[in-house]
Formats: sequence, C-alpha cells, structure tokens
Amino acid sequence: MAAAQTGSQKPTDTADTVPQDAQYQTRVSKVVREAEDILSFELESADGKPLPSFSAGAHIHVHLGNGLSRQYSLCNDPVETHRYMIAVLREPDGRGGSQAMHERVAEGQMLTISGPDNHFALAGREATFSLLLAGGIGVTPMMAMIEELERAGRPYAMHYCTRSPERTAFLDRLKPRIDAGKVVLHHDGGDPSKGLDIPDTLRQFEPGMHLYACGPSGFMNAVNGSVGAWPPHAVHQEYFSAREMTEEEKAWDAKPFKVKIASTGAVFEIPANRSIVSVLQEHGIIVPTDCEEGYCGTCITHFIEGEPVHRDTVLDESDREDYVMVCCARAKSEVLVLDL
Ligand code: FES
Repeated sequence: MAAAQTGSQKPTDTADTVPQDAQYQTRVSKVVREAEDILSFELESADGKPLPSFSAGAHIHVHLGNGLSRQYSLCNDPVETHRYMIAVLREPDGRGGSQAMHERVAEGQMLTISGPDNHFALAGREATFSLLLAGGIGVTPMMAMIEELERAGRPYAMHYCTRSPERTAFLDRLKPRIDAGKVVLHHDGGDPSKGLDIPDTLRQFEPGMHLYACGPSGFMNAVNGSVGAWPPHAVHQEYFSAREMTEEEKAWDAKPFKVKIASTGAVFEIPANRSIVSVLQEHGIIVPTDCEEGYCGTCITHFIEGEPVHRDTVLDESDREDYVMVCCARAKSEVLVLDL
C-alpha cells in the first residue's frame, strides 16, 4: 500500500496563510537568556513577509532535523506578525529537543517550523474571569494570553509558580502586571508544599470563570485533583508531558481491536500493547507524530465509526465525538473506522 498522510486534520484557530502542516523557513533573529536554563528564541520569516497569524495559546512545531521535531507555545503578543517568540527550558533528561535548541540554535540561523496550531485557546466573551495557573515553563502560552486578555479589557489573575526568582522567566514583561496585582509569583524552593496552595486557589467556582493551567506533570496532577468544583467546560489544560493514566485507562492496553481505513476498506488488527499509529506505519500508512504520548496533538485523526478509548490530554469532550489521537487511543468497539 502506498504511504498516506493524514487528511483529516481538525480545523483549529491557526495559520491563515500557510497550510496547518506545511513546513516553512524562519530566521532566528534573537536568542535571549530569560532565566536559569531558559532561552527565548525570536523567529522572523525568511522572506520578510508577515508570519501566519495566531491566537493566544497557540504553538508551533520546530523541526530540528533527523526526524526530531518539538512543539513550543508562542509567548509573544498575538497581534504581532513580524515575529514568533518561543522559550525553551533545557531538560537534560528530556528526549533531546531542548538540548538541541540550547546547543545548536543560534542567532542568524534558519529554522524550519510548521503551524501555528492551537489546542489551548482562550474561551470567548462568555468567560467573564480568567484564572491562569502556570508551572515553570508552562508560563509560555500564558504570556500570550495575558496580552490578549489585557487588550480586550477582560479581567484575569495569573499565578506563576517556579522554584526560585532565578528560574522565573519574563520578569520584565510581568513587572507591571505584578505591580498591578494581576500576576502573583510563587517560589517553592523545590518543595511544592511551600508554593501556591492549589486546592485552596481552586476551591471556589463562580459561573463565568475559566481556568487555564499549564505546567509539569506534578503541577498538573495537583490542578486535576483540585478542580472538583469546576465544570469541565471551564477547565482548559495544556500538558507538555504525558499525564499519569488511570488504572482503567491502562487496562485497555490489554484489549486488541481492529482499525478500518475508510478510503480503502483495509482492516488491521491492533494487538495488545501496540499503538494504532505503529501498526498503520508498518503497513505504509504514515500518520505524523511527535510526542507519541497523547499531549501534542500532532496525530489527530477523524474517525467515522466505533467507540474510542481516549487517553490524550488534547481533545475536549466535543472534539472526542469526531476525533481521536491515534498514538495512544484504544477502542471499546470491535472496529474503529478512521477517515484516512
Ligand atoms: S503524537 Fe502527540 S498526541 Fe499523538
């Protein structure tokens, strides 16, 4: 069978001049040390034309060669079209993307990117108050959000949790917001019990409030364990690592099922402990992937029939009626029909 690419991308609030998955060249116009182990990179278009527009919460994919690609949230003001700004935390134990960004990317260099895509957009005007919780480098999408919220005159509060002042990025941009009482910094010295009291912060929900949270897995677990009073539609989260699966979610690994390709009628058995994406790849059907753990959104695929077991952190309840993340999803039904 000929190799195929996914043709069922979910429409998102993204680039309006470049196809969502098209790769294009940018030039690194500035690299700045924002904090200990955090560099920001400013990118401008290689041909001098405006970059595709984006909304707060969007990310781009940076293609680092040799199949290495990583997604990074855009942290500049979304009205800007002359540049994109991303910030990268060096993670010595990571999968190599952050090390490559820190060690191999310099001012003046060309960088191939795709996107922007947005799975973490601000709610509309029905959101009368936005509560932003940022853990560490999870502050990046929030920086674009506060620019957008302020321009629209919409009220918000942001809590930014880091280990220490030295590991706190964007202090220049945040200073006026801290002085205005809109942004509060919390330093825990490495002991979360000395930082923001997340359960207390999330104890009360009022209609019209929307919560946005982004941070490392421990931080996100704490948020998830504290949103009992919040309706699901008011909770927006972006992960940059896989969340911990429940025992029930893990148990689906043991159940085999079948995937049918709608365009050809081909049916493939997905054995226990193998992903849909790996089986399809084996048969020449290439669905682009990045994290392969359900948090980046790259492998989103439209499904037509069947009952998936969603195990990602990207799709919301309404998305889940039509889309599935084929890097991590299983199926309760015997067959899952994919729009490929
Ligand atoms: S590859 Fe990242 S969500 Fe599937």
